[in-house]
Amino acid sequence: MNILVCDDKPVMLKFLQEYLESEGHAVTTACDGEEGFSKFGEIQPEVIITDMKMPKLSGIELLKKVKSANPDVIVIMMTAFATIESAIEAMREGAYDYIIKPFSIDQIKLIMNKVGEKISLIKENKYLKSQLQTIYRFDNLIGQSGKMKEMYELISRVLDNRATVMITGETGTGKELIARAIHYNGPRANGPFIKVNCAAIPEGLLESELLGHEKGSFTGAINKKEGKFEIADGGTIFLDEIGEVPVSIQVKLLRVLQTREFERVGGNQTIKVDVRIIAATNRDLTQAIAEGRFRSDLYYRLNVVPISVPPLRERITDISVLTEHFIKKFSEENRRPAMKVSKEAMEAFIKYSWPGNVRELENIIERIVILSKNASIDLADLPAHLLPKDNQLEQLSVPSVGKHKMTEVVDYIEHKMIEEALKMTNGQQTQAADILGINRGSLIYKMKKFNLYNS
Ligand SMILES: Nc1ncnc2c1ncn2[C@@H]1O[C@H](COP(=O)(O)OP(=O)(O)OP(=O)(O)O)[C@@H](O)[C@H]1O
Ligand SMILES: [Mg+2]
Repeated sequence: MNILVCDDKPVMLKFLQEYLESEGHAVTTACDGEEGFSKFGEIQPEVIITDMKMPKLSGIELLKKVKSANPDVIVIMMTAFATIESAIEAMREGAYDYIIKPFSIDQIKLIMNKVGEKISLIKENKYLKSQLQTIYRFDNLIGQSGKMKEMYELISRVLDNRATVMITGETGTGKELIARAIHYNGPRANGPFIKVNCAAIPEGLLESELLGHEKGSFTGAINKKEGKFEIADGGTIFLDEIGEVPVSIQVKLLRVLQTREFERVGGNQTIKVDVRIIAATNRDLTQAIAEGRFRSDLYYRLNVVPISVPPLRERITDISVLTEHFIKKFSEENRRPAMKVSKEAMEAFIKYSWPGNVRELENIIERIVILSKNASIDLADLPAHLLPKDNQLEQLSVPSVGKHKMTEVVDYIEHKMIEEALKMTNGQQTQAADILGINRGSLIYKMKKFNLYNS
């Protein structure tokens, strides 16, 4: 078995490592909870044996984090008799078992035997499931975290029907990829997949873009035009950034959703279509409803099957598979051998918060694959804001001259300020640029440079 042992006492680590290795297991050790969590992301152990009281991150906190990333991982808590209460709490949080310190070899052996049986059960289960669907990927979607697996299951349940799907999630989490996976893996795959970016079309044109118009229905309507709903007939329409649709047009959308019927702008012939509707947004629509910017009846019509895509930082076990996937993709594109990732670089990836999610990771890997000539990705290849804490400029009250290049310090500060301004303004670029005292053009330029995305 692949086992991770976390304890702040080196003697305990050594004892368990020696014993478990003598039993033929692969053992990795960590001396506090935080290190434990990053090693967990790196090696993806089947079993974690952890102490309760540890610096930085306690055993319970570690338990909660690893379980949310991968519910299958088996966690065994080690506890002193005095803290047995918290061991019971740990069991409630999903720990598999606990063992009271000090313990004998026989006791640990007993637990490990039980764990062995449990793991073969889990494997058998997984095998059965994989007969029905691939667990590690779905179409072009990569990810093996518990959360991704839940999503694959949800997706596979909507493939064969026409239920309206509402995909929510931060920018870059893969909403569009999911919409495409739903379309291309269902019975409509041979029909069209039509994407409408509702935020990019001016209010005056959106209705005719969606529903079409008759010749001469408004100035500029020289010819009759089919709308996106008509073009998508027999297939899927993907309404991206649905939260940006003006209230005046929401009413019309509501009718199409209810009846699949509409008239072109300026027309009176009723057109009936057969489309699957998938909507997406990175905004909190419930807040938009509260503020009167989004109709609640439309929301309920759209939200028949909600799929919420978790941010990358909440599924860190996906980081290494995604990294590998993108390295392969860009190496092939650029015809060079695939790079390896150093341990330190992978740790930095796992600790980073990924505000731009998978897209940000993809862009960073692409840049490295193009720019670096080395065989592996090392810390030196990473942008400054990804470097681990002890290297981070944030820690220094005065940036230490000689340790960092001036451009790095400037970049770092700019990056932080832009991130903060975008957070303060909920992603409104014009407002954020005002706060920062730069124009919107330079803001967009810098956002690209730092891989910051918002809509
Ligand atoms: N699970 C994944 N596996 C592989 N690639 C992914 C995954 N998730 C996202 N990507 C890639 O990341 C990039 C961003 O994905 P996508 O455009 O679907 O995000 P989004 O949620 O629609 O973002 P936005 O809200 O900014 O429009 C794409 O290049 C996509 O291929
Ligand atoms: Mg998108």
